[in-house]
Amino acid sequence: MGAIEVVLGDITRENVDAIVTAANESLLGGGGVDGAVHRAAGPRLAEAGAALAPCLPGRAVATPAFDLAPVRYVIHTVGPVWEGGDHGEDEVLARCYVNSLLVAEELGVESIAFPAIATGVYGFPLDRAAVVAADAVRSTPSTVGEIRLVAFDRETHDALRDALARPIGVRRGEEPPVDRQPG
Ligand code: APR
Repeated sequence: MGAIEVVLGDITRENVDAIVTAANESLLGGGGVDGAVHRAAGPRLAEAGAALAPCLPGRAVATPAFDLAPVRYVIHTVGPVWEGGDHGEDEVLARCYVNSLLVAEELGVESIAFPAIATGVYGFPLDRAAVVAADAVRSTPSTVGEIRLVAFDRETHDALRDALARPIGVRRGEEPPVDRQPG
């Protein structure tokens, strides 16, 4: 498992081999981080995406990064639209991270940057998404040596940082009691 770091910033400024975008099934771009990535990569990104569409939720596909060079690849993944939490959203979101890492590994990617997938337009609650993301990247064996979780705002940064600080599978407020040794 590679080194995992939470950073605050614009993912299109990341100097990594692959940038992950939170796409929709058309892979034609949109708002949010997808819009920023498409603007930075240029119109060829949508052309390349269209050739691979549709991309189903939880799946991940790679294209060149075009004008984002020296970034080599954009990995497009489609998060789940939040529907209340009992429609398998956690599992789909986890697959976004796992499948993006698998695609990155197949491409020989050594460093990757993820946005906080599904926590914007798709409405996935931030703290819950942060735990899913932290657990997925920590439990996926990968040859990708550097994993950067890029937060666009301080709240997202702190949620990801806190999730990584907790044992796998533990959400905020569910921390196991600290067993105080007597004496
Ligand atoms: N760098 C890093 N993170 C960013 C950036 C950026 N430049 N711009 C936005 N974000 C963050 C948002 O603040 C949020 O935390 O990315 C996270 C994901 O939010 P969205 O981009 O809205 O993605 P998502 O919730 O997965 O919705 C996907 O929105 O843009 C459309 O085409 C996209 O239909 C798809 C949907």
